[in-house]
Amino acid sequence: MAAYELTQHTYDVVVVGAGGSGLRAALGCAQAGLKTACVSKVFPTRSHTVAAQGGISAALGNMGQDDWRWHMYDTVKGSDWLGDQDAIEYLTRNAPAAVYELEHWGVPFSRTDEGKIYQRAFGGMTRNMGEGPVQRTCAAADRTGHAILHTLYGQSLNHAVSFFTEYMALDLIMDEGECRGVTAWKLDDGSLHAFRGHQTILATGGYGRAYFSCTSAHTCTGDGNAMVLRAGLPLQDMEFVQFHPTGIYGAGVLITEGVRGEGGYLTNSEGERFMERYAPSAKDLASRDVVSRSMTVEINEGRGVGPGKDHIHLHLDHLDPAIIHDRLPGISESAAVFAGVDVTKQPIPVLPTVHYNMGGIPTNYHGEVLTKRGDDPDAVVPGLMAIGEAACVSVHGANRLGSNSLTDLVVFGRAAGLRAGETVEAGKPHRDLEPRHTEAHLARFDRLRHASGSTSTAQLRLQMQKTMQTSCAVYRTGELLEQGAVDIARIHGGSSDVRVTDRGLIYNTDLAETIEYDNLIAQAVVTVNSAVNRTESRGAHAREDFKDRDDVNWMKHTLAWFDEGTGQTRLDYRPVHTYTLSNDIAYIAPKARVY
Ligand code: FUM
Repeated sequence: MAAYELTQHTYDVVVVGAGGSGLRAALGCAQAGLKTACVSKVFPTRSHTVAAQGGISAALGNMGQDDWRWHMYDTVKGSDWLGDQDAIEYLTRNAPAAVYELEHWGVPFSRTDEGKIYQRAFGGMTRNMGEGPVQRTCAAADRTGHAILHTLYGQSLNHAVSFFTEYMALDLIMDEGECRGVTAWKLDDGSLHAFRGHQTILATGGYGRAYFSCTSAHTCTGDGNAMVLRAGLPLQDMEFVQFHPTGIYGAGVLITEGVRGEGGYLTNSEGERFMERYAPSAKDLASRDVVSRSMTVEINEGRGVGPGKDHIHLHLDHLDPAIIHDRLPGISESAAVFAGVDVTKQPIPVLPTVHYNMGGIPTNYHGEVLTKRGDDPDAVVPGLMAIGEAACVSVHGANRLGSNSLTDLVVFGRAAGLRAGETVEAGKPHRDLEPRHTEAHLARFDRLRHASGSTSTAQLRLQMQKTMQTSCAVYRTGELLEQGAVDIARIHGGSSDVRVTDRGLIYNTDLAETIEYDNLIAQAVVTVNSAVNRTESRGAHAREDFKDRDDVNWMKHTLAWFDEGTGQTRLDYRPVHTYTLSNDIAYIAPKARVY
């Protein structure tokens, strides 16, 4: 192995990732007087949060009566009763304050005529526990994530967060079960670094790029999730992968659910508004799993549109062009660029596209990472926290409601900052690092850098993406999943034959993509194996061979550990938290599916 020198950095807290949750956490830690580093593989304002469109949910009640308890009910129901109800109470109760905080920091929200924050309807968001749609999603036109990310970055700079931009995190520094920081590769000069922190907060996003067609940025490779697996810790509920109903056909680019919130609707080849059949009450604003499945059935039964009858039409051509211009400018441009469509005159061709990972690193609602230790299913991993899409708190359970993601980012980013403020003593000295703490990190880095097999990273990645797209799709069967598990294990095995052609260390995108692929394939393996194992249908996990939700046997979280050497997944479970934080709302019991 080549000799690598690690440049040392010591901070009270090290945040990995500079999207909405990472920036909010870093800001909170700095506000608490902690010396805080934020390490990101991209420039902060290029993080994937920038692509969030439709908005951030919070029961502000600006467009009619609303209540956080109704928001909580919708989120528990949307999660198909797999969400932890204590965490969901924390999310929905704290959402209004989190949005006002963003407003005061300068997020340019769209406004009502009275000057209040504008809120639009989104799928699954209802008034008085299911009575009818409510306008709960706070929007900055259709560029809400962009507005939030830029504001949070400005505020973080103002609060003296130290940014380490274009540093790719490699692995967690673990010591007797405790996390003591992270190693990273500085992309522009090739140097390697060790960041020590008394808390390391993973805000590394989802792993949408394990799939062929997704709305996720190319950087969404779940690097933190994979680091957790390599540290011998489990990921949770990885079988639950959300398909957004309206990715642009052929390109996968997101068309916000806000289009349907503003009155847009879907049609099949007969011009029928088919959602009226599947969800007579919520119609086009049913939750995403329901809409994605309905679209898939329409296509499978021959009522898709286009020459291949393989997609669906999304209409907003009946809406006032002034409203489209004012509230949906971003998707109008995307539709023109990626589908050649003028949305004021023509429907947009759309198809369900991978959008969000409900699964991730198990945490409590403070952001502390959990593992199962002995009989304790909620044992805290010292020194390690996770937030945002990387985490599985679990507020989204088996299916996330649209616009609950941005809320999750800022509410739990703030919670992590508060917790770090309580648990970390500012300026406390760090124990020395020994070579044994990082030698496995450097060995993996060196092995991938010098990989001299016969298969390119791009070939392996494509095989993985196609396999995931086919076997772990909107509808799943035991047969498809089992074949998927065999195929993905073979592809994982083939990783030992990978070829990296650039041996350099400076802006070596060949090596960076290989590290990302290596991260993705581990998550793909545990995703398929978790899906094979769950013999029921719940939320985004819809099995043709087990069509019903089974609360007796499966109202529990899956935990998945991965052995890199053997490629084996080990599964276990954690109970769902069916208790709330307060007496303000009783446990929300499972009910039959009615939309
Ligand atoms: O449709 C959208 O604008 C996406 C929002 C979300 O995933 O929360």
